[in-house]
Amino acid sequence: METTDQLKTYLEIATEAALAAGAVLQDYWGNLSQVEEKGRSGDLVTNADRASETVILEIIQRHFPNHSILAEESGSFGKQQAEYLWAIDPLDGTTNYAHQYPIYAVSIGLLIAGVPQVGVVYNPARKELFRAATGWGASCNRQPIQVSKTDELAHSLLVTGFAYDRRETSDNNYAEFCHLTHLTQGVRRSGSAALDLADVASGRVDGYWERGLSPWDLAAGMVIVAEAGGKISSYDGSPVSLSEGRILASNPKIHSVLSEALLNTPQ
Ligand code: IPD
Ligand code: CA
Ligand code: CA
Repeated sequence: METTDQLKTYLEIATEAALAAGAVLQDYWGNLSQVEEKGRSGDLVTNADRASETVILEIIQRHFPNHSILAEESGSFGKQQAEYLWAIDPLDGTTNYAHQYPIYAVSIGLLIAGVPQVGVVYNPARKELFRAATGWGASCNRQPIQVSKTDELAHSLLVTGFAYDRRETSDNNYAEFCHLTHLTQGVRRSGSAALDLADVASGRVDGYWERGLSPWDLAAGMVIVAEAGGKISSYDGSPVSLSEGRILASNPKIHSVLSEALLNTPQ
């Protein structure tokens, strides 16, 4: 069992890494020399993604040489079933970033015994630092944040996203997007899963769902939503499986009705 002081130490180092990576992303903004597809159409990687990840890895590995890492661009270091596993997305929202659409973030989460317990999501363009650790609450720029209190789907604003395999599968979220658009005040698509979760945590949106995500998209934001009083599950209400990558995160008041709406989407 982790003490709250230990969690605080992990949170501080994750914060140092996220702020350093954010500065790198701002340096490269509008000045990319490499933009490549990673294999799947639309799934980009740039020199900014790589430079940001290098800075994060250096800080995490210097402070915690015995911890394992799962980083989007460089892959795995150490045992992936380890007690301590850092899940790192050095640039969440690469498509936005490559087009100079200023919605992107750094996402750094720590799983302890497989459970996300520390999370930092940093939005350099707005200088917003979202943080949480289990038992410590969630904050934005060190001010406490909470999920919204909207209690009816018809009054809610939601956000979602579409995975890079959307052309290859009929489970591509298009039907769910239409269905929820009819049932709510609107559904947004920001292009950054980490910021979508941070927006649920801060009550700017009432709920978020998406499929096809990776642990580095989710780990940090899940802690932030949970500590802000939100509810997180898979679409059917069961616990999120980080390997499956399907998430429904919302304020607790609309969670079950949102789950029903997703499960009952006409296909
Ligand atoms: C993507 C973003 C996007 C989501 C995709 C993710 P990336 O991450 O979070 O919002 O819809 O599924 O893969 O590629 O920009 O790090
Ligand atoms: Ca991502
Ligand atoms: Ca990324």
